Amino acid sequence: MRDFIFHNSDKVYFGRNQLQHLPEELLQYGNHALLVYGGGSIKRSGLYGRITAMLEEHGIRWCELAGVEPNPRHTTVNRGAALCRERGIDVILAIGGGSVIDCGKGIAAASLADTADVWELVKEGGEVDDALPLVAVLTNAATGSEMDIWAVITNLETREKVCIEGPALLPRAAFENPEDTFSLPAYQTACGSFDILNHVLDNYYLDDGEGMELVREFQESVMRAVVRCAPAAMAEPDNYAARGNLMWASSMALSGVLDAGTMHTGPCHRMEHELSAFYDITHGHGLAILTPRWLEYILNDRTAPEIYRLGQRVFGVPEGYAPTEGAKKAVDAVAAFCFETLGLESRLSALQIDARHFGEMAAHACGAEGKIPGVRPLTPADVEAIYRMCL
Ligand code: NZQ
Ligand code: ZN
Repeated sequence: MRDFIFHNSDKVYFGRNQLQHLPEELLQYGNHALLVYGGGSIKRSGLYGRITAMLEEHGIRWCELAGVEPNPRHTTVNRGAALCRERGIDVILAIGGGSVIDCGKGIAAASLADTADVWELVKEGGEVDDALPLVAVLTNAATGSEMDIWAVITNLETREKVCIEGPALLPRAAFENPEDTFSLPAYQTACGSFDILNHVLDNYYLDDGEGMELVREFQESVMRAVVRCAPAAMAEPDNYAARGNLMWASSMALSGVLDAGTMHTGPCHRMEHELSAFYDITHGHGLAILTPRWLEYILNDRTAPEIYRLGQRVFGVPEGYAPTEGAKKAVDAVAAFCFETLGLESRLSALQIDARHFGEMAAHACGAEGKIPGVRPLTPADVEAIYRMCL
């Protein structure tokens, strides 16, 4: 168990009747907001109308940055930062999924930085010391951005998808009403759910687990909730209990609670961010394709007992197998969850991805240190081999 500092000051308003507190949260920071949202789902669901009526009623002025793309572009962030500087914005109100919240965080950072270009912050290492306050209204249970310190920004020109990070990016408040996710299509529900599961699994203790029992129990219970609730939410989009469990699981996953004392090296995430940078695919789908192959690749005598434990505790693999055999059953169970239960295409080739950029992507995923650390460190050759297993 590694040393850790836990500090998460995000105030979460969870449930059906909490949006009434939005004006009081915003007014703590001023009365001029930038509304950031995506391609229109919040207008179709009526959420936009409810929120803007509330802002009007409380004398909160606003301007808008609409049309944030899934995998938000640095150019969109820069447009938002320019608006904030021109209009003297006090607070960012991000209404949407992870892409919208991340875009809002990028705007919050670039608005106060020496440069209005968020990519300059990325080039300087991505550490953010200061940012405008941000309040999030979450509409997709997936990334955990509503309760974490990261923002993932994509530069399509350089084919890079990179994090900026820092406590200044933690939302000041997050509004989480499971009803706001009822309109999510089944595909986004599947992808978002697997993203949550992988946030936990990517930091799961795949070693001997010394001192990690409490954290692992937390992690396993959150992963079990995802395995139980994702199919329920796909079958019944307005199942409040299933949507609510997924939403809270999303927020817990990267809040600092579930990865306390772990290695937090995010191997599947580092490999996936290359896929969505090069091919603009849906993040959770890329993770679902990679994860069973990564588990198969890292399976050895040292990791087998832990992978088998994951299978038993989360996916219902029976007891009684030898570790390696049990671990193989666990990998099969993860694959069945991704490709049968969630119904996601299992191969990169089905997403029109071939091997031509794998070398470049693998080198970039391994970063300056030349490897992804972890219980089984991955070199660029390892990463390329995993990509090939996914073709
Ligand atoms: O743009 P709109 O019209 O809102 O539609 C979105 C979008 O098309 C739609 N959607 C969202 N809520 C909806 C809805 N449609 C109907 N009803 C609703 N209630 O879903 C589509 C996908 O939305 P998006 O925000 O892109 O999805 P997600 O929440 O999965 O965010 C993905 C982004 O977050 C990054 C990913 O890499 C990706 O760029 N991540 C951010 C993390 C973080 N900040 O900590 C960590 C994650 O690992 C991840 O990397
Ligand atoms: Zn993720």
